Amino acid sequence: MYMGIDIGTSSIKVVLIDDEQQTIATVSEPLTLSRPFAGWSEQNPSDWWAASCRAIDTICATHQTPMRQLRAIGLSGQMHGACCLDKANEVIRPAILWNDGRASQECTELELACPTSRSIAGNIAMAGFTAPKLAWLKKHEPQNFERIAKVLLPKDYIRFCLSGDYCSEMSDASGTLWLDVAKRQWSDTLLAATDLDTGHMPKLVEGTEVSGSLHSHLQQRWGIKQEVIIAGGAGDNAASACGMGVINPNQAFVSLGTSGVLFVSGESFLPNTDQAIHAFCHALPNSWHQMGVILSAADSLEWFAQSVNQSVPELDAKLPTTITPSDCLFLPYLNGERTPHNDANARGAFIGLSRRTRQEDLTQAVMEGVSFAFRDSQEALLASGSDFDSAIVVGGGAQSTTWLTILSSVINRPLKIPANSDLGAALGAARLAICAANKIDPASVCQDPKIKTIIEPATALVSNYQESFEQYRKLYSALKTINQ
Ligand code: XUL
Repeated sequence: MYMGIDIGTSSIKVVLIDDEQQTIATVSEPLTLSRPFAGWSEQNPSDWWAASCRAIDTICATHQTPMRQLRAIGLSGQMHGACCLDKANEVIRPAILWNDGRASQECTELELACPTSRSIAGNIAMAGFTAPKLAWLKKHEPQNFERIAKVLLPKDYIRFCLSGDYCSEMSDASGTLWLDVAKRQWSDTLLAATDLDTGHMPKLVEGTEVSGSLHSHLQQRWGIKQEVIIAGGAGDNAASACGMGVINPNQAFVSLGTSGVLFVSGESFLPNTDQAIHAFCHALPNSWHQMGVILSAADSLEWFAQSVNQSVPELDAKLPTTITPSDCLFLPYLNGERTPHNDANARGAFIGLSRRTRQEDLTQAVMEGVSFAFRDSQEALLASGSDFDSAIVVGGGAQSTTWLTILSSVINRPLKIPANSDLGAALGAARLAICAANKIDPASVCQDPKIKTIIEPATALVSNYQESFEQYRKLYSALKTINQ
């Protein structure tokens, strides 16, 4: 038996699978998010651990026999979050998360202080990344900064609770801005730019390697006699990719979740810092991936639904079965944007409203605006040399066939809907546990999912959306000065 634990932003998911990768049990535990000031986003690491224990205790209670046969655990989680421990392993303050925008000024300062940062990290300093958050802490909470003994990413804090090891792996470490992503090792130069050194960092393994083994008191608590190893695991996007078999060059997936991700796997490191592409290590040795990240994807529609006091399915049901492009344009920058603008202060907009605009037009404009944001990411990926023929699509937004038809037509690529889409990252983490426990070829473990439906681009929409996209592209710079 193998377990995958995914530390998400809104919930923790735990899955138990057998040697044939059949799902034996899944449990999800909700998490809350704290936004103490505009643009801030925090969670208490103790909540992650408490929720993980509740989920595993539940599996123990309902699936005692398979749980006793557990051999390995793989971890996955929201990327970039800064969880700081002191010398006594106490958490110093709430973790600052991936969608926290407070450190945008520190990004500029960091790049000025360390002019080689883009070439070493292969990435721009973005407010969501870990290093700028530490620069913010040093400036605004110096007493907390002084106490820091270790900085851990969310899933690596759970690893510490499970095994006592300070350890991370390449895919998640790529999002810190302290990793030399091409060489797959911590960079002294990048660490020095935030007054830290390798002593503050966990050791690094590959996602498919062993990082340690489960504490004996937890083995006893969960009724397990044999040693349980912990695999390196992966950041949630690389883990989802492993869960969906996106491990070979030019395979891709789209995540239409709270945030949006366009992820393309590759065998070489292809940075494109000019357009805020995330060029990160994949969870498998000697492989990399590139991502465009949209901060408010399905969350844009969720926001609109709340504003008009409806549910997302209610709004979706009101859309016509045959779509023609809306007269309105929507910018989805409700929480700033990463790719391609890297601007924590960017803001959303509806453009082109008239007395004829109805609620349905606005719903459709939101779906189109998010789709154009994916197209922006696709253009940035193409510019850096990676392309894909089709993409697997997951996330809450993938429930809407209308939205998928719009997105597929905007990016002019077929979208494949897997038969079982809700386990991506936790399943990927469990697959990495299989690799670590058995030292087998990851390609034989990370197979393609069964595809339920393929949504093809609608020929009539492709060229119309090309025109709308060209208009959309003009809006960010036109509105920038107003938003700032
Ligand atoms: C990736 C990113 C998000 C988080 C959300 O760079 O910030 O996808 O990992 O879970």
